Amino acid sequence: MVDPEAVYRQTTPRSRALHERAAMVMPGGTTRTTTYFHPYPLYIERGEGCRVWDVDGTERIDMLGNYTALILGHSHPKIVEAIRRQAARGTGFAAANPIEVELATLLCERVPSLEAVRFCNSGTEATMFAMRLARAFTGRPKIARIEGGYHGTHDYAEVSTHPVVSEAGPPEAPQAMADSMGTPDWALDQVIVLPFNNPDAAERIIRREKSQLAAVILEPIIGAGGVIPATIEFLQRLRDVTRELGILLIFDEVISLRVAPGGAQQLYDVTPDLTTLGKIIGGGLPVAAFGGRADVMEMLDPRREPNIAQGGTYNGNPLGMAAGLAAMTELTPDVYDDLNRKGARVCEQLTEVFASHHVPVQVNSAGSLLALHFTDKPVVDYRTMAAADKKQARDLFLGLVNHGVLMAPRAMGALSTPMGEDDIQQFVDAVEAVVAEQRRRWESREPNARASR
Ligand SMILES: Cc1ncc(COP(=O)(O)O)c(C=O)c1O
Repeated sequence: MVDPEAVYRQTTPRSRALHERAAMVMPGGTTRTTTYFHPYPLYIERGEGCRVWDVDGTERIDMLGNYTALILGHSHPKIVEAIRRQAARGTGFAAANPIEVELATLLCERVPSLEAVRFCNSGTEATMFAMRLARAFTGRPKIARIEGGYHGTHDYAEVSTHPVVSEAGPPEAPQAMADSMGTPDWALDQVIVLPFNNPDAAERIIRREKSQLAAVILEPIIGAGGVIPATIEFLQRLRDVTRELGILLIFDEVISLRVAPGGAQQLYDVTPDLTTLGKIIGGGLPVAAFGGRADVMEMLDPRREPNIAQGGTYNGNPLGMAAGLAAMTELTPDVYDDLNRKGARVCEQLTEVFASHHVPVQVNSAGSLLALHFTDKPVVDYRTMAAADKKQARDLFLGLVNHGVLMAPRAMGALSTPMGEDDIQQFVDAVEAVVAEQRRRWESREPNARASR
């Protein structure tokens, strides 16, 4: 039987050596928890189109695109040119710049809820500012969020992203659980946790907390937490109840903006009060944004008193704005349609592969996003996702690395526009090869190897 870890160690000696050096100067030899995996992360040197090359010179198909950010692949010529041109003209000024006006206008034209927008540098900042804005606008302190959703790494965000199920209370009334050591106790009091895709339970909790609730934040399609689309009924109920109670509804579309020109809110035809964006809007550079209703956003207007200050040395920096504008200009409706068609097709192929090997898997998908969950039950929320076998997902991930494919360690991925039929077939063939290699190991494993996180 093939041990994927042994193969990985044999074929990545330079990554191992770099990691040994890196571990002397960075905890765990990395500066990003999400790029670390056991036994050591892959060190990538170069990317082009939908391919990346590691420091040992091994080529792989990139099925993750920097966690969904690189919808146009690596080193897209128009983005490279935009960055080159702007770098030669200056990378940042203590002043506004014309390109931020262009990108802001484009986003407001495309995303239904955006009457006004502000830029920042990461999705973490975008959700942090959107939540602060909601608290300031409503005069209420608390934020409700979805169990298993992801909104970045600030204190309000790191609650119940991946709780241990046995400690997290009943599914219809989840407890707020700290994701990280160091999360302050106040965050657990100020953050209310809602179950995903359970409109009655979510409404009950929102009504109970209504006098204290500033906002409900959610990903209309949970991304990093397993590509789990909301039902239209769930989104509509949240829209109705928040509107009735004067609570702001925030859609975190940092990932889901890639499913349609106007994001998931356009697909579902449900318009939130505020929206957070990131990933694709920077064309591969660190750009994020938050925006929405003009009467809420105007609290940031420095011409009025009082106002909310939103500093940030790199907010709207011309390099990121130039890359983002180049990327978003390339993303016409036809490009989305084509990419989403490819996404649907690849998910059909994957479903066939697992069925032919009799391995129970849920292929969750939305547009060009996909995630594989090793369970025989549909994955519709955090609890059903957490019941899936994480060890099998890790074997698949490492097996795919050995077979020339890079996905997220939780077997989540995203397509990019440079992927052609051959690239997609190569990905599907690699999945088939790994499943064929691993099936016997998986069958012989104890069922209680299933993790509960
Ligand atoms: C939905 C969502 N919100 C927020 C974030 C945080 O973004 P960043 O990593 O840029 O801080 C992410 C990152 O994956 C995300 O998926």
